[in-house]
Amino acid sequence: MTQHENEHLSRIMNGAALSRAVCSIAELGVADLIETGHPQPIEHLARASKTHEASLYRVLRFLASHGLFQEAGDRHFDHTPLSAALRSDAPGSYRAGAQLYHFLFAAWDGLHYSLQTGEPGFNKIFGAPIFDYIQAHPELGPVFDAGMTSLNCYETGAMLEAYDFSSINVLADIGGGNGSLLCAVLARYPKMKGILFDLGHVVGRAKEKLNAAGLAERCTVIEGNFFETIPAGADAYHFRHIIHDWTDEQCAHILGHTRKVIPANGKLLISDCVVPAGNAPCCSKDLDMVMLAFPGGKERTEEEFRSLLEASGFELKSITRTATAICVVEGRPV
Ligand SMILES: C[S@@+](CC[C@H](N)C(=O)[O-])C[C@H]1O[C@@H](n2cnc3c(N)ncnc32)[C@H](O)[C@@H]1O
Repeated sequence: MTQHENEHLSRIMNGAALSRAVCSIAELGVADLIETGHPQPIEHLARASKTHEASLYRVLRFLASHGLFQEAGDRHFDHTPLSAALRSDAPGSYRAGAQLYHFLFAAWDGLHYSLQTGEPGFNKIFGAPIFDYIQAHPELGPVFDAGMTSLNCYETGAMLEAYDFSSINVLADIGGGNGSLLCAVLARYPKMKGILFDLGHVVGRAKEKLNAAGLAERCTVIEGNFFETIPAGADAYHFRHIIHDWTDEQCAHILGHTRKVIPANGKLLISDCVVPAGNAPCCSKDLDMVMLAFPGGKERTEEEFRSLLEASGFELKSITRTATAICVVEGRPV
């Protein structure tokens, strides 16, 4: 091994510190204490974030070496574009996403177990599957929704740019979370109606959001479990970041229920990453690790989507790529 390879490997192995530090800094709100162009002294940052000054300095110096924050003058820190994205008020802020990771970070310890067993490490570490765990910890529900909105925010615009929803009269967003995606789609297509379907402890927040957006009259909110039922009444059934949460067997149940209610000319829309062939870096392969360790699902290749759809009575019609890693996989009932 060359010295360069040795150092590269060492930095990869210490990557856990980088990830952990970003999530902690987001939770502590350190980025909110700095306005770009106005470097702040470490004493002030430590006092205001209630952290240990010497340790905070070392963490910020470490993060600065990775492009988040920059030391501008003696022990004063300013933003870089990456650290500024952790401010709560940044357009497309990543803070809530990093906070969600902060609360569930221990699941990464379970990756070893996932590797050995194929089972979600999350369940071993937290004692329950992720969505059951969130249901049992109501304080985490809003954290999860806000994290999803933060992590997915650029995807919504990119999907609306790339995929033409105009032929859809009623769009059902299954596992639609707090409704942020449906709000954006309904706002873009004023004649469209919506159905939002999610677990009982989630739909209250969706109703609030749809009300606040003045869209409540155009959207029916239904609580339920997609392993038991899928609501009828839509001509398109959309699943964003849902199918990747589950194994092929579990997806067969969800899609099987969908197949029973979808009209013959209806559309099945799955918005997820499509894993490319080859060794190139791709967010889909990173997110696939989250799926392995957290819910126990997976990101899929085009072929895997084709088989998944065929197994539930659908055929893959098209894959629409967007400016982000997410694609809209369209299926039709056969
Ligand atoms: C990864 S989030 C995706 C949220 C949203 N579609 C988005 O793109 O931001 C998964 C969603 O599935 C919902 N969910 C999980 N299990 C469910 C079930 N059994 N039935 C209905 N919804 C479920 C969760 O409550 C959560 O809102």
